[in-house]
Amino acid sequence: MTLHIGATPGEIAETILMPGDPYRAKWAAETFLDNPKCVNDVRGMLGFTGTWCGHAVTIHGSGMGMPSLSIYANELIRDHGAKTLIRIGSCGAMQEHVGLRDVILAMTASSLSTPSSGIFRELNFAPCADWGLLRAAADAAEAKSTRTHIGGIYSSDVFYDERPDLNEQMTRHGILGVEMEAAELYNLAARHSVRALAVLTVSDHLQTGAALPSKDRESSFGDMIDIALTAAFA
Ligand code: HPA
Repeated sequence: MTLHIGATPGEIAETILMPGDPYRAKWAAETFLDNPKCVNDVRGMLGFTGTWCGHAVTIHGSGMGMPSLSIYANELIRDHGAKTLIRIGSCGAMQEHVGLRDVILAMTASSLSTPSSGIFRELNFAPCADWGLLRAAADAAEAKSTRTHIGGIYSSDVFYDERPDLNEQMTRHGILGVEMEAAELYNLAARHSVRALAVLTVSDHLQTGAALPSKDRESSFGDMIDIALTAAFA
């Protein structure tokens, strides 16, 4: 047990999928895993361990934003033995050619990153995905014929943004989409020598204002989870 994770030793798998939403963790575990068992419900942040094709997997919520993800990823890595962490989540598209339901594999994540600026200060550390996971996810997406984009994303500290000029700069520099967690996950993975990747589904479009109706979200999220699980054990 750790401060925010009530699991007992051995209840957390080495491979973790991390959606932001705890209820999506529940849905994903019940939909994709065999024998899912709830291993955490501290503060309503749900985690489940089960098996996928015989491999042990934990699906654990991260909460929204890098400070929240940082709490859970730190404890999962440092105290519960996590070795592979894949964020599965939604993002807003920042390029015209990126459409709703498309999948983005985040090669790297730009940020103003509150948790890591205390460490790096004036240094612009470039957090990046694990290459083996990224390659395996790209192969899995291609095999499923999922419309997929691979490149940089922006991990923002805020959803309701008072600095639209930052989004404009990100778009101008080819950033594919915006979410709020991946950069800190990649920072932590680098710090602790574990593997990380963010596999994202586009749920809204910053330029067109289009957004996925909530009933469509689950089915398009299924592709992303399938890609993440296949990549984890490739
Ligand atoms: N901004 C930040 N995070 C997000 C967005 C967004 O537009 N869409 C999904 N996650």
